[in-house]
Amino acid sequence: MSGPKSVILAASILAADFGRLAEEIKACETAGVDWIHCDIMDGHYVPNLTFGPMIIKRLKDMTTLPLDVHLMITNPESTFDWYINAGADWVSVHPETCPHLTHTLRRIRELGARAGVVLNPGSPLDLLDSVMEIVDLILIMSVNPGFGGQEFIPDALSRLGRVRAMIDRSGRDIRLSVDGGIGLDKIRPAVAAGADVLVAGTSVFKDGASVTIPKFKQVLAS
Ligand code: DX5
Ligand code: ZN
Repeated sequence: MSGPKSVILAASILAADFGRLAEEIKACETAGVDWIHCDIMDGHYVPNLTFGPMIIKRLKDMTTLPLDVHLMITNPESTFDWYINAGADWVSVHPETCPHLTHTLRRIRELGARAGVVLNPGSPLDLLDSVMEIVDLILIMSVNPGFGGQEFIPDALSRLGRVRAMIDRSGRDIRLSVDGGIGLDKIRPAVAAGADVLVAGTSVFKDGASVTIPKFKQVLAS
């Protein structure tokens, strides 16, 4: 059983100003963000469309912060290696997009990244049963995927609690992440429910990371 881990703040660049991406990343680094969360959307699995491995590669040149890549794409099994080759440190997939889920998670790890599984608000938690022995991160969506700036779905807290119990029972070193609608007011409830990675986009970039991240840290330290 691993001991309590410090909470990771992952800034989701979906809400960043892409015209000033390098500055936004630098501000995250200076303010003490732990990871950069990268939302890859293909206009099929979710209606929105973002960016691909070329931008991951550019981000890798810009920062030493770990890149946490969240694949919201159909058929990630044919392209996940592109993201790892581009510099992704963590690669997370939605199980409903992966007919060969356990094989894919194993391959992600063999290629040198950490492997994550993402559950939508409507996805049953027992999808995790077959992956507890191989997964490095479980991400509980607290909004339906596709867009930033949505309202946090409160049911995510009880789902985090149930997944936290599964992780503790497994005795494995698995990060528990929550993504969507995370603002200052959600930090304490999410951590109390068992999350140790907080993904936040709008609440970080709206007023700038240099202003918001110290506030996040203050709440975490209190
Ligand atoms: C939604 C994405 C999130 C999104 C979070 O599909 O997975 O990472 O960027 O954005 P906010 O913090 O604005 O809800
Ligand atoms: Zn995300």
